[in-house]
Amino acid sequence: MHRSSGTGREAMVAGATGAVAKRLIEVLAADPGWSVIGVSRNPPGSAPARTRYVPVDLLDPADCRRRLEPFSGVTHLFYCARARHGEGGTESVEENVAMLRNVLDAVEAAAPGLQHVHVVEGLKWYGVHLGPYPTPAQEDDPRHMPPNFYYDQEDLVRQRRLGKEWTWSASRPNAVCDVAPERVRNLIPTLGAYAAICAELGMPLDFPGRPGTFRALTELTDATLLARAIVHMATTAACRNEAFNVTNGDVVRWSRLWARIASFYGLAVGSVRPLKLTEWMRDKEPVWQRVVHRHGLEPRRLDAIAHWGFADFVLAQDYDVVSRTTKLRRTGFAEFLDTEDMVLDHLARYRQARLLP
Ligand SMILES: NC(=O)c1ccc[n+]([C@@H]2O[C@H](COP(=O)([O-])OP(=O)(O)OC[C@H]3O[C@@H](n4cnc5c(N)ncnc54)[C@H](OP(=O)(O)O)[C@@H]3O)[C@@H](O)[C@H]2O)c1
Repeated sequence: MHRSSGTGREAMVAGATGAVAKRLIEVLAADPGWSVIGVSRNPPGSAPARTRYVPVDLLDPADCRRRLEPFSGVTHLFYCARARHGEGGTESVEENVAMLRNVLDAVEAAAPGLQHVHVVEGLKWYGVHLGPYPTPAQEDDPRHMPPNFYYDQEDLVRQRRLGKEWTWSASRPNAVCDVAPERVRNLIPTLGAYAAICAELGMPLDFPGRPGTFRALTELTDATLLARAIVHMATTAACRNEAFNVTNGDVVRWSRLWARIASFYGLAVGSVRPLKLTEWMRDKEPVWQRVVHRHGLEPRRLDAIAHWGFADFVLAQDYDVVSRTTKLRRTGFAEFLDTEDMVLDHLARYRQARLLP
């Protein structure tokens, strides 16, 4: 049997290698009051202090029970997993709900001291993937027509906690941005690679999204800020049994952000020229390899640095993408970031790591 480290709280983080969980584990592991168990099918090679990884297939209930049964000391379950998915569309309700149910079944059975379950949801709760939706989005806005796996997951958790000791919370971030070279599905290196290709081709920085996107307001969520917000929600009485929007706390207009990105790369701002990047970047590997060579970057293929499908999804949002974050602030979470500065800071860190020029 795995014994709790005796340091206090024990977190189990499902989906431990994902965009959200990476920083969540980092934030938890930096606090000696927590010990951490990371769960995914393919655990990483090394672990931070007070952290161990366990290989589990969340789609397999027997595997969940067998592998998680020893963890009797878990006090907090952070659910950050997500079944494989394409870009922008409706994601599998069946798989995503089964994964959450399987881990809940296993943890509830193994850990009598379970205090809290946090589920990471997202802006698709409001239908950002479908088209314009009421903004600023509020947590109690009416649901769009199903399917939406977040609805089923939250309903499952609400139902399961009735009569139980544990409480729940949920976070609803927008696109999660980070310096995460191991993860290609990230707007920052994708936009950086696009800018580097424009520079290599001697072009200005045309905006490849829709004209309406260029004019629209949007918001982003820094992965570390999200991680701190999640820990706040899971440990603050005022957050019990509630869901919260989490963004950097400001809004940006693509037209202004684009000018900052162009300036970072010493490029002129070009025109708005809608391009499906998944198609237009298909033949750009040789251009990217020239960029790598010219700037002495770490050798990587273009598809190991940029995810054009994700950029196409975000840059097609030709409507405001804005969430109200007042509810979370009222519970005492006061952190915020300047989103334009965050984008440039992340780009600078990719440059420092010699992954982008
Ligand atoms: N990323 C974003 O920009 C963003 C924005 C808003 C909301 N969200 C939401 O945040 C949540 C987490 O998303 P994410 O982007 O962080 O996820 P992600 O990067 O796609 O990572 C998914 C994680 O789940 C694990 N996983 C997948 N299938 C599994 C299985 N069968 N058994 C065990 N582990 C499994 C993966 O590891 P293995 O493959 O090794 O198993 C990985 O650790 C989702 O609800 C997502 O909708 C994300």
